[in-house]
Amino acid sequence: MSARRQPDLFRQQARACESLGSPMYAELLSRLADDLEAGGPTATVLRGHEDDPGPSGLALRLAGSVHRLVLTGQASELAGLFPTTGGTWSSDGVAAVVDFLDRRADDVRPLLEQAPQTNEVGRSAALVGGLLRLVDRRPLPVRLFEIGSSGGLNLQADRFRFADRSGGAWGDPESPVVLDQAWEGEPLPTHARLSVVERGGCDVHPVDVTTEDGRVTLTSYVWPDMTARHARLAGAIELTRTRPVVVERADAASYLDRLTLTSGTLTVLWHSVMWQYVPRDQQERIAARLAELGATATEDAPLAHLFAEPTRRTPGDEHRFWVCAESWPGHGERAFLGLMAPHGVPVTWE
Ligand SMILES: C[S@@+](CC[C@H](N)C(=O)[O-])C[C@H]1O[C@@H](n2cnc3c(N)ncnc32)[C@H](O)[C@@H]1O
Repeated sequence: MSARRQPDLFRQQARACESLGSPMYAELLSRLADDLEAGGPTATVLRGHEDDPGPSGLALRLAGSVHRLVLTGQASELAGLFPTTGGTWSSDGVAAVVDFLDRRADDVRPLLEQAPQTNEVGRSAALVGGLLRLVDRRPLPVRLFEIGSSGGLNLQADRFRFADRSGGAWGDPESPVVLDQAWEGEPLPTHARLSVVERGGCDVHPVDVTTEDGRVTLTSYVWPDMTARHARLAGAIELTRTRPVVVERADAASYLDRLTLTSGTLTVLWHSVMWQYVPRDQQERIAARLAELGATATEDAPLAHLFAEPTRRTPGDEHRFWVCAESWPGHGERAFLGLMAPHGVPVTWE
């Protein structure tokens, strides 16, 4: 067993939370790392997980498990510290969480088995912006399909409201989802007519947000003090409950096998921050299927592949969250449209 490994991973996650806007988790996770190292209640709860690999995200599993118990009223003594239950975080909260882990280890431990599952509504800013560029070029009704949809919330993206930094806005002014300061850089063609006539998605672990369990699952993995993310998530869940979209339980490659093109519509396959989880053989099948469909695409039945994923612009570059599009008919070359922040907003368009 590596005595230092998990505490280091917790501290690494704490730094990521700090830089991405969660001072609460930055403090909590770095102090839990100390407790873990000292063999305190955190170590007891995490017994057996010492060698969990970094990508399993043990720190976020633990934080999400506690958050879930708070959200469901099973940790009412912590509610006053969690902004998602009307509380306010303070440094005293660390001792309260450690005490909770000490008393309630048996309630927390089974929840650690659940892999963190998110559906980041902010990423719709990248997807919709790219879609506006696509329909500006090919003004047809859109059939919209998504792989790695999670709760399917971003399949509602054309029903959200987006505001840019210069006071411009696009989308339904009555939408329960408002993304402020979503776009900067080159202006988008907000005059383009966007009409989505069909939509659907897939995920290997779809989350049904029409259920309370699905709502709590997605909410519990959003860092509690990131109130704008929580507001977007709640609004998108509300929208999805009134206008459900089917997210099939299927892997991305199998889903693509069934994708077809239809005369008089632009078929769009989009995805965000899921490609890194797709096994290599599936990635190859998806690329081959897109090339196969692309070869049959016409101006009357075009195809586009739009994504916001960590990728390199040139082989020597570092990975960044690029918004990219490939279109057919044509050669399907990759166009780099803009850069997205990890949680979506802002997107800087080129
Ligand atoms: C980090 S989440 C992102 C979800 C959503 N696209 C977003 O941006 O909020 C990645 C999602 O991809 C799904 N996923 C992973 N591998 C997949 C695969 N091979 N086929 C379909 N979905 C997959 C996961 O279950 C998870 O819901």
